[in-house]
Amino acid sequence: MPLILNRDDVIKVLEMKDCMDVVEKAFAELANGTAVLPLRTPIMPPDGLSLYMPAYLKELAALACKVVTVYKNNPTKYNLPTVIGKVLLQDPETGDVICIMDGGYLTAVRTGAVSGVATKYLARKDSGQSAGIFGAGVQAKMQLWAVAEARDILKVYVYDISDEAVAKFITEMTAKLDLGITKVDSPDHILKNCDIICTATSSATPIFDGNKVREGTHINGIGSHTPNARELDTNLIKRSRLVADSYEACLKEAGDIMIPIEEGAIDKSHMYAELGEVVTGKKPGRRNDTDITVFKSNGLAIQDVAAAKLVYDKAIEAGIGTQIEI
Ligand SMILES: NC(=O)c1ccc[n+]([C@@H]2O[C@H](COP(=O)([O-])OP(=O)(O)OC[C@H]3O[C@@H](n4cnc5c(N)ncnc54)[C@H](O)[C@@H]3O)[C@@H](O)[C@H]2O)c1
Repeated sequence: MPLILNRDDVIKVLEMKDCMDVVEKAFAELANGTAVLPLRTPIMPPDGLSLYMPAYLKELAALACKVVTVYKNNPTKYNLPTVIGKVLLQDPETGDVICIMDGGYLTAVRTGAVSGVATKYLARKDSGQSAGIFGAGVQAKMQLWAVAEARDILKVYVYDISDEAVAKFITEMTAKLDLGITKVDSPDHILKNCDIICTATSSATPIFDGNKVREGTHINGIGSHTPNARELDTNLIKRSRLVADSYEACLKEAGDIMIPIEEGAIDKSHMYAELGEVVTGKKPGRRNDTDITVFKSNGLAIQDVAAAKLVYDKAIEAGIGTQIEI
């Protein structure tokens, strides 16, 4: 009988540290050839966009498909969120669906988790670092949680064009993590003071001047994954030692990378590694304390599948959820 896990069930069992561990394994599987990761399949009904994201991870024995929809009229017309996601987890031995779970919180945690893994491998190793978060929305909170798992963070600065979003971010994240979080009024403050930066905004245009980024900084770029939108400018991309979650996704979906290539500022070989290659030691990460490392995340189904299997195993262990006969 399939297990049904709602958002609260997922929240109860999904911790960032555990999620980073399985996401790291998923990227190792991608590099080692034991992951199956078809491109995400989009369908565009008249009112929205529906994306199908399947993957299989042999070593983790995880097989699943996430369905995510983006329907802009949902909030006004139906009192539903714009973005809705659900994951269908299967038993790889029988193919049968063993669990259907809410995918909203899971997506945010797995998106944080991959930045946590990238930070672990690419940021400088000194302790007592400062983190700067661009954006104060759903994803930004999880970015901070993950970075704080990966490094010993002393100070956090947050910048968003919405004061309301920043206030909520500070209240929520101060309660969650024992960290001092400061609101800043300009991007420059973060660029001058932070060792690790996450960009998690809904902006379609660059959010700071890449020439102002200090040597030695590590940046996780997770927003704007369409060909014409970008958060990171050409200057930053040119100056960076650039790691992709997937070359293919970056070349098809990431304006952050595609626009500098179109401009002739870089070619695709400027992405020197995929994260899985760094995790498995096939390619080195940071070379020195002056490299500016940039990790570009588009969000891969292997992250969802690894996280969904983790949630399922934890829920079974804790006796959480509702089983139904279909
Ligand atoms: N890489 C991935 O796997 C992945 C997964 C999920 C979402 N995303 C992307 O992450 C981004 C953020 O998503 P979210 O769910 O947190 O959205 P959200 O709407 O909750 O938050 C976005 C925040 O960005 C702020 N913002 C917009 N322009 C800004 C600017 N120039 N400077 C500073 N702040 C600015 C907004 O005010 C808002 O608070 C989106 O682009 C989304 O598509 C990526």
